[in-house]
Amino acid sequence: MTKYKVAWLPGDGIGIEVMEAARLVLDKVGFKADYIHGDIGWEFWCKEGDAFPQRTIDLLKNSDVSMFGAITSKPVKAAEAELVPELRGKGLVYRSPIVRMRQMFDLYNCLRPCKAFPGNPLNFKEGIDLVIFRENTEDLYCGVEFNTVPQELKDTLLKLSKPFAAFKDVPLEDYAISTKINTKKGCERIIRAAFDFAKKFGRKKVTVVHKANVVRATDGLFLETAKRVAKDYPTIQMDDANIDAMCMWLLKNPFNYDVLVAPNLYGDIVSDLCAQMVGGLGFGCSGNIGDKVSVFEPTHGSAPKYAGMYKCNPIATILAAQMMLDHLGEKDMAARIYHGVAQTVKECKVVTYDMGGKAKTLEVAEEIAKHAMKA
Ligand code: NAI
Ligand code: MG
Repeated sequence: MTKYKVAWLPGDGIGIEVMEAARLVLDKVGFKADYIHGDIGWEFWCKEGDAFPQRTIDLLKNSDVSMFGAITSKPVKAAEAELVPELRGKGLVYRSPIVRMRQMFDLYNCLRPCKAFPGNPLNFKEGIDLVIFRENTEDLYCGVEFNTVPQELKDTLLKLSKPFAAFKDVPLEDYAISTKINTKKGCERIIRAAFDFAKKFGRKKVTVVHKANVVRATDGLFLETAKRVAKDYPTIQMDDANIDAMCMWLLKNPFNYDVLVAPNLYGDIVSDLCAQMVGGLGFGCSGNIGDKVSVFEPTHGSAPKYAGMYKCNPIATILAAQMMLDHLGEKDMAARIYHGVAQTVKECKVVTYDMGGKAKTLEVAEEIAKHAMKA
């Protein structure tokens, strides 16, 4: 049996607890790995001025796969104030480790399955089964932003863009610019990932989410690329929808949709909407998948108010672990975990507060492992 090297990054708050739960289940189903702990999160920002230290970056590079819990983030000014005194005033700027790792390792495919487990009291409707492919490196999240706009940029924009004339009298310090950058390669690889998945798993339709009628350059590129790529997949239907309409239609009839693919921002929004339809934060799991490095995580944060209480739902993280096994090709163990979660949800006896239960985080993990072993 293969023994893997797994970078293990619990992070802050309940990240630590839900990762302990996932580890319990992984051990019980017999997954063999060297788990190497990686430092990440608020503690390291405060002590070292870096929430994602170089040693952790190196660990990710040198592992087969990574799992990440959750971290605490704070706005730039509040973050500066919490640095140890000797690091203050040195111009250190807090940046989210997750956004950094996605860009640094080119984890372009954010895969977020949203399937309703039968009997989950939190289901919006029974039978929902959506898979979202969110582009993870470009778009409005590329980090090219200006607070206090440089004069050269303003001059260039006035020269090159007619609509920018509307801003010509605004003082430089009174406006901000965030750029949305999409590339042909970036659009194509996420769209192909969605179609490849649909083909492999017998899915019927890929819906492309955009706002190309208004955001014509970037979203136009995304939609045009999708139309071109779709021709290579004649057995799969392609349709498209504006992000705003998509949110309405998803709520009206989620069964009209199957696989969704979207640029970064719309993918972020629509995947949270879909996660809520199948149980909310306790069920939202995701893979950040690149060609060399992949990181699996629950989508919730560190929930500081519950930190240390072991009362939060570990299912999102256990499903992230299941996705990790699937990614590694350990299909049998992945299927066991999936069954364990399904059975635990169906019985709804040993579940956390968000599902109306009283069980603790690790009790739910034990229950899932018990059912997984019977599968
Ligand atoms: P959050 O996701 O941490 O929690 C919001 C609320 O949702 C919690 O107070 C709790 O009521 C509920 N919740 C979250 N996870 C749950 C679980 N597994 N089981 C049951 N209930 C759960 O979001 P919030 O409060 O906005 O952010 C807290 C911190 O987490 C912030 O510092 C934020 O920046 C960070 N954050 C980190 C993320 C990550 O590491 N991927 C993602 C989102 C937020
Ligand atoms: Mg989000």
